[in-house]
Amino acid sequence: MASPQPQILAAFEAAKGFMPVREGLALYEAAVAAGALGLPLLEVGTYCGRSTILLADAARASGTVAVTVDHHRGSEEQQPGWEYHDTTVVDPEVGRMDTLPTFRRTLHAAGLEDHVIAVVGQSPQVARVWGGRLGFVFIDGGHTDEHASADYEGWAPKLAEGGTLVIHDVFPDPVDEFTGQAPYRVYLRALESGAFTEVSATDSLRVLRRTSAAL
Ligand SMILES: C[S@@+](CC[C@H](N)C(=O)[O-])C[C@H]1O[C@@H](n2cnc3c(N)ncnc32)[C@H](O)[C@@H]1O
Repeated sequence: MASPQPQILAAFEAAKGFMPVREGLALYEAAVAAGALGLPLLEVGTYCGRSTILLADAARASGTVAVTVDHHRGSEEQQPGWEYHDTTVVDPEVGRMDTLPTFRRTLHAAGLEDHVIAVVGQSPQVARVWGGRLGFVFIDGGHTDEHASADYEGWAPKLAEGGTLVIHDVFPDPVDEFTGQAPYRVYLRALESGAFTEVSATDSLRVLRRTSAAL
């Protein structure tokens, strides 16, 4: 099982964000394995770069690159007045969230800037202009049905056969969920498409492999 070096794990643990360590280790293992395809590893939902650190290090190890997409204005549950709001990532001049400066500092501190392409924009718009094939897609963006479905529809078809789809915050039981069950519905949709086979489940993280070109 591939595990990050202690300094990478320390950078991940020190970074602001929403990825627990157990899930981070599963994400890393999946990303390293997918890197063998030699194709870019893509993440939707950069936030402050916590999970990006792991994808960047996996990309570095495989000689490929991590691409991370975010508009950096935060998801619904991160807005002022909501449970996951963090006042330290608000741009006082604009009066809106801006996680890009923290993300850049996080990546710089981890020494991984050269292994990441950061795209600032709406995920479906970026997906529409992204022409290349991907070896790995990690969906951790907006948690409404509208956003999670658009992420799946925009990015999953770009996965090469043998590529890996990872979905975060999959909660089959509504009692456990804290940001809605849209990621769970996307996970079911991927399995029901017949194009994906489940590889592993670690807490709310699901790793699927694209086993068929038909999608
Ligand atoms: C749950 S956070 C990502 C957490 C991050 N992966 C981590 O490890 O801490 C979700 C992120 O998705 C971004 N986001 C939500 N909807 C988006 C969209 N439609 N396009 C681009 N980014 C989006 C938000 O700005 C937010 O930073």
